[in-house]
Amino acid sequence: MESIGQLTAGLAHDFNNLLQVVSGNLELALSRTDDESLRRPLENASRAAERGARLTKQLLAFARKTRLEAKPTNLNNLIIEFGEMLENSVGPQIEVQLNLRPRVPSALVDPVHLEMAVLNVLINARDAMPKGGIVTIGTSKVHLNGDAAAHHLPPGDYVALTISDEGEGMPPHVLERATEPFFTTKGQGKGTGLGLAMVHGFVQQSLGRLEIDSEQGKGTTLRMLFPAADAQAAVPRQPSRNPAQTEPRGKSETILVVEDSSDVLALACEHLTSLGYTVLTARDADEALVVFDKAKVGIDLLFTDLVMPGSMNGLALADVVRERAPGTGILLTTGYNDDLLTKGKASAGADVIGKPYRRSELADRVRAALDNRGRERQAPASVQGRGPRHEG
Ligand SMILES: Nc1ncnc2c1ncn2[C@@H]1O[C@H](COP(=O)(O)OP(=O)(O)OP(=O)(O)O)[C@@H](O)[C@H]1O
Ligand SMILES: [Mg+2]
Repeated sequence: MESIGQLTAGLAHDFNNLLQVVSGNLELALSRTDDESLRRPLENASRAAERGARLTKQLLAFARKTRLEAKPTNLNNLIIEFGEMLENSVGPQIEVQLNLRPRVPSALVDPVHLEMAVLNVLINARDAMPKGGIVTIGTSKVHLNGDAAAHHLPPGDYVALTISDEGEGMPPHVLERATEPFFTTKGQGKGTGLGLAMVHGFVQQSLGRLEIDSEQGKGTTLRMLFPAADAQAAVPRQPSRNPAQTEPRGKSETILVVEDSSDVLALACEHLTSLGYTVLTARDADEALVVFDKAKVGIDLLFTDLVMPGSMNGLALADVVRERAPGTGILLTTGYNDDLLTKGKASAGADVIGKPYRRSELADRVRAALDNRGRERQAPASVQGRGPRHEG
């Protein structure tokens, strides 16, 4: 199982690099044309690339290598907002009923991944009811105390999201293996067996628990328990930036970009140059240090890939750069949540931006990393995690 996880994470990581190049270049092309006959196909291609990114996220979720951004999330609002899209994806045969309790506390969960999980479960429900039927999505508050151990969770407040169908149900031998990656009863070309594996990985990574009850001929109920967030901490979902709003720009700072994929490198340079930064580049850590030492002007920010071939990965490079020039800002980028990130001490003070990233996101994160320079300088550097684990 572990090796399937590693393999999947490795593949997904490579896909994220490819998707970065595809969606980034489409974004550039779109920003340079007002021609409607061109914009339409470019926008279609962008949507497909976004869908590709979502699929990759599912793979990473199952491998539990996702960079989850858990935040207090009102599940009732999320389900309502998402309602139409849910109904569309299960088709007219299936009626989606909501049973949302008022005043459920916010859950601490990544809303984007939760939407994906719900969609997977709904599609399973649809498949289990070929003649149609009702799926009920419910929310409730759950307080676990004496019974916490039975749920393998620490005592406390949780929010339950329950999805029930009246479909064919699962016999015990299927139920037992349902969350296993690549376990499917749907036949070749129909199911990949990643749906519930992804949901299970995601819920576990969210410090919650997935519970499934199923009875053959009667239906299936799937329950996701998520830790409740402190009510006071609840924040509205982040509004997406209106493209007309100005992006934070460079103030003639110099950025050293280190990336072994030439396409990703070219794209990052294109974005950063057009945002008003001076850009130097290197293909691996050793080259980066040569460029760093030779640079006539000081380097304000090191923007480096985390996993690179060569003698040092991005974290180790960040440590060396910090030793040589403690005031340098550090921004790491990676296609997945590598274990390295939780191990190296350098990560404590470094920002990370996930691939694929959008131009506006890059603009924000680079500016923030530059503005934060020196704030976490007390954190001592440590050289850890030397040596690459994956190419790319
Ligand atoms: N609601 C359900 N009712 C009956 N059986 C289910 C239900 N959900 C899952 N299963 C069973 O569990 C198996 C695994 O589900 P999972 O979602 O992981 O994979 P899949 O649906 O077969 O493929 P994929 O989701 O990758 O397209 C299914 O093939 C099916 O046998
Ligand atoms: Mg499925």
